[in-house]
Amino acid sequence: MQPMETEDMQDLRKLFRIICSIALGATVFVASAETSTLQAAYKEFFPIGAAIATEKNGFDSLTRYPPELLAEFSSLVAENCMKPGEIEPAEGKFAWTNPDRIVAYAKEHGMLMRGHTLVWHNQSAQWMFSATGSADEKRAKTRDRLKTYIGAVVGRYRNDVYCWDVVNEAVKDDWDAGKWPSIYRENSPWFAAYGNASYIQDAFDFAREASPDAKLFYNDYGLCGASKRARTIEMIKTLKLKDHGLTGVGIQGHWNLSWPPVSEIQVTIDAFAALGLEVQITELDIDCYGNTPSEKGIPYAQVEDALAKRYAEIFACFRKNSGKITGVTFWGVADDHTWLDHFWLGVWHEGRTRKNWPLLFAEDGSKKKAYRAVVDFKENR
Ligand code: XIL
Repeated sequence: MQPMETEDMQDLRKLFRIICSIALGATVFVASAETSTLQAAYKEFFPIGAAIATEKNGFDSLTRYPPELLAEFSSLVAENCMKPGEIEPAEGKFAWTNPDRIVAYAKEHGMLMRGHTLVWHNQSAQWMFSATGSADEKRAKTRDRLKTYIGAVVGRYRNDVYCWDVVNEAVKDDWDAGKWPSIYRENSPWFAAYGNASYIQDAFDFAREASPDAKLFYNDYGLCGASKRARTIEMIKTLKLKDHGLTGVGIQGHWNLSWPPVSEIQVTIDAFAALGLEVQITELDIDCYGNTPSEKGIPYAQVEDALAKRYAEIFACFRKNSGKITGVTFWGVADDHTWLDHFWLGVWHEGRTRKNWPLLFAEDGSKKKAYRAVVDFKENR
């Protein structure tokens, strides 16, 4: 048996790491001496996850963050590297290295692994839509490719990924309301290649075939808005997705300091639970700017308290609903890496930054007021 490490030894180890990183000129991440973690505080409620980056501009969450920081979470998801365009950029050419690394890390540390995502209109693999011929031929060829793709990816991780975002963002947005009559995102390459929404049913069928026990999710943003939520419910019912293996709905938590009101979050959780579905909050991050059009950054001190207050009310709601919620995942680990630095007003600004602070850990890995607001609660399950 290994001798137990004393607290002194643990502190020494942390100090050693900090000294090494200073010597190497690296960012110093604050290692907390506290033994409690986010995942421990929420053990009785639901797993708490984080999205892991592996490739974007050389940023690698698994090597950048100290294990103590990652150990705050009990579940991981890939921010990008498990999307079709990343995992199989050309037919038959798979990039398994990064997904394998995250899966191995999760396994080694006793964490859950979510899979994101199999079918999406963005970051998709363009070769999957290259079929030519009649509408029937195109649909048949695309369907074959989808089946092969899902078989390969879901099959590879069938013992590791407990939950898949099978289809992402397939429902029409409010701002597309007048563009076509159906409730679906008709300008998705999937819809175009199939000529209808049956690709959604196929994706769930193929995922279920490849992994009989995985939880299979539909994942989308804007679900706390009444009309998009209604369209999503209509999709689930019309396509009879539960008969195709649907386990639950992922409510993407790309929210801000005031939207959505907690009452709407509650209505949304209840609406999907009423269909007999699990709910997970996926991709949680709180945009500190809301819909501010200005590209000019504001100082963090200006929003710190409001962010903490917002996180407190959101997590109070989640705890109250822990019988319905089976996971809460942040879209990132710490504020030094968040897609919101580049994404505002619905547009990705390549090469431009407006610093945002949507997460619970600061840029140096230290715990923010918002962290305290999430873990310091009184009620039990
Ligand atoms: C984002 C990533 O965070 C970015 O790095 C990437 O450039 C674009 O995609 N909804 C989703 C996620 O389902 O996959 C998206 O992730 C954010 C919106």
